[in-house]
Amino acid sequence: MQNYNNYSYKIPASPLFPQRELIYMPECHSTNAYLEQMVREREVAEGSVVIAGYQYAGKGQRGNLWLTEPGQNLTFSVLLKPFWLQASQQMYLTRVFALGITDWLKTLMAAEVHIKWPNDVLLNRRKVCGILIENQLHREHIAMTIGGIGVNINQAYFPFASATSLFKETGREYNLDQCFYDLMVCLDRRYAMLQRGMLGDLHNDYLAQLFGLGMEINFSTGNSSFPGTVLGVDDYGRLEVRTPWGIRLYGFKETTIQWPLK
Ligand code: BTN
Repeated sequence: MQNYNNYSYKIPASPLFPQRELIYMPECHSTNAYLEQMVREREVAEGSVVIAGYQYAGKGQRGNLWLTEPGQNLTFSVLLKPFWLQASQQMYLTRVFALGITDWLKTLMAAEVHIKWPNDVLLNRRKVCGILIENQLHREHIAMTIGGIGVNINQAYFPFASATSLFKETGREYNLDQCFYDLMVCLDRRYAMLQRGMLGDLHNDYLAQLFGLGMEINFSTGNSSFPGTVLGVDDYGRLEVRTPWGIRLYGFKETTIQWPLK
């Protein structure tokens, strides 16, 4: 196991975020929760990041825990203040985070890289990265976003067959400092596209990475499962699926794509 007190993470300078800070926590319950608390206590500049050596109570989607071995993986949260974005456009933040991660993975290796709707990132059809985006709304705008990212880097064993890491897929160990820096460059680029209003490009690029587009795959809803063909994702983030009952739009809480992925 690496000594996770020894990291020397650096964050790229960006004209978008001239005041950004990098806060390294050797141990932390949840970087999302920690960053949220910081913002309540003092002014924190947009683009700032909290990164943990070991996150011991990470929050996942749907109230799940995000479990990660100490010192093996990246767990961090980014603060954004996209007040110019309508609350109804929240899906664009999902697109920014998911695409930043897929862009970065594609620079590292020639493997299959996909986004599993809405915002899991897959490497060779197994989950390598989870994203938890927590927005605070002010009327119809987004006052603040905390984008939490967990990427499995050097961890070798997982309790679920559906999970993987860079190490598991390539047999190589990766330098976490370098991974973080390069990933942040990719995330900054995608956020710059959003700031410039390049919504069509973000929409199309997300679709190009979407797992199952045009393919028949299995979905779960409660206790039942059904086959369906993914047709797209609308601006509210709903998945458009051709089901045995016709074309349907599903929200995040209404269905999931069933493991294992074909
Ligand atoms: C998922 O369930 O797929 C989302 C997982 C998100 C985990 C990351 S790790 C860094 C950040 N802090 C948290 O508590 N959660 C996110």
